[in-house]
Amino acid sequence: MSEAASARSRHSSPAAVPLGPLEPMLRAWLPRQRWFAGKGRAITRLRLVSAVELLPPGSTPGLLHLLVGVDCADGTADCYQLLLGVRPAPLPPGLAPALIGRAEHGPYAGHAVYEGLGDPRLAALLLERLRAPGSHGPLRFDRDPDAPIPADPAPRPLSGEQTNSSLIYGDSHILKVFRRVWPGTNPDLELPRALASAGCTRVPAPVAWYEAELPAGPSGGPGGGRRTAEPLTLGVLQPYLRGSEDGWQLALRRLAAGADFTAEAHALGRATAEVHSALASALPTVALGPAQAARLAAGMTARLAATVREVPALQPFEAGLRGAFDALAASRGTGVPAQRIHGDLHLGQTLRTADGSWALIDFEGEPARPLADRRRPEPAVRDIAGMLRSFDYAARSHRPFAPAWADACRAAFCEGYARTTGRDPREDPVLLRAYETDKAVYEARYESRHRPDWLHVPMAAIRRLAERERPARRMPHPSPPPPGSAAPHPHPKPPRRPLA
Ligand SMILES: Nc1ncnc2c1ncn2[C@@H]1O[C@H](COP(=O)(O)OP(=O)(O)O)[C@@H](O)[C@H]1O
Ligand SMILES: [Mg+2]
Repeated sequence: MSEAASARSRHSSPAAVPLGPLEPMLRAWLPRQRWFAGKGRAITRLRLVSAVELLPPGSTPGLLHLLVGVDCADGTADCYQLLLGVRPAPLPPGLAPALIGRAEHGPYAGHAVYEGLGDPRLAALLLERLRAPGSHGPLRFDRDPDAPIPADPAPRPLSGEQTNSSLIYGDSHILKVFRRVWPGTNPDLELPRALASAGCTRVPAPVAWYEAELPAGPSGGPGGGRRTAEPLTLGVLQPYLRGSEDGWQLALRRLAAGADFTAEAHALGRATAEVHSALASALPTVALGPAQAARLAAGMTARLAATVREVPALQPFEAGLRGAFDALAASRGTGVPAQRIHGDLHLGQTLRTADGSWALIDFEGEPARPLADRRRPEPAVRDIAGMLRSFDYAARSHRPFAPAWADACRAAFCEGYARTTGRDPREDPVLLRAYETDKAVYEARYESRHRPDWLHVPMAAIRRLAERERPARRMPHPSPPPPGSAAPHPHPKPPRRPLA
């Protein structure tokens, strides 16, 4: 057994435990993973935060659950969840793409270490652990006792762009394994559970989940020097919506066919409103006051200033954009309710189910924001702004640019929302403009970093939003079509990387 595996009994001082022979292979492998947030940064240290054998020592294959702290030269420190398979080398051909490395010395000498989620036997074992609640070292597995989980469904990994890793079991359930983890309940467990108990059926209800409970200590925190007493959410099992299609793909198909999408956008507005209403009834809400409005505006202004330094194309619009945030601060937040929201809503976070209704998924919020920020109540308009930007992205990914399509969808979405809540989001133009501007600034930074060919998409919105006097109900005006016809994800993500 490696130092890492034998560290199971040493959770009280995890920060001091080295990764032993696994360290060099993980240092090489981690930066290549799609979900690794520290790309381009030099890793200075890997720290073992927790290690648990999920199968009896000596089993073939073995399954090693690790929480690994990654310290980078720029001072950032993140914690990642790894599920490593261990088998005598060489791996069977079917598992070869999952290989991480071969241990040359130590207790795993002669063994191949690989991405455990790529091994159906290990994926099945993880589901077994979720079916039978209990603790394994610091890992605690829980389930809803009333929700059935089939005994032996065939697992398959979900392909496609992802921030995390998901496994589909027999087309009946999907397990999301969080990769970058923090102390504190992940909103992707917290909010769907709250929605389920409020009777909202727009969101698949978690049926099982697992967490890590690590001891608090001066240096034991997964992020480095912080204390951690709150559990870290590691995975959530939900019903799989078989035969569903995500809203982004559906919207692009409609655009390609020259077809209308307003009925769907309207229904999506209603679904979003239902989710917002259920969240507001299930979880605490606050009324924004001058201090909160000023804090929100200051955060947006700071993000703008940082982005202008990085993206010079924004410079001519900075004053106009800042005007949107100044207006938010000047509004003094009067009467605006803040509540728990989705936090990263766009067409790619919606699923149209086989029966034609809409479901919302992925309540993690923007993974780049600190967890405490993501769990703070905010005006629901933030989600609406995200969706309005997404219609714009879809329309601009089509050639020729379809401005009328976007305008109609944006209006239909707001009308659907108003139909359910009784209030049209466009009646809060100051708030809506501020959130749309903040989102467009975020997009501009993303596109300039990763897909400069797409910078024109947020820039078109930036030009519109920078206009000082903007009538409340005005929708975006046309701008030149994009140079390419490839469809971007509505919520920009880095290009996909190959597994191991
Ligand atoms: N309950 C579900 N039913 C069907 N497909 C799902 C479900 N949950 C997620 N998916 C699929 O998995 C993809 C990624 O899920 P998501 O929760 O957004 O993960 P990530 O945080 O990695 O973006 C979705 O775009 C969707 O295609
Ligand atoms: Mg997602």
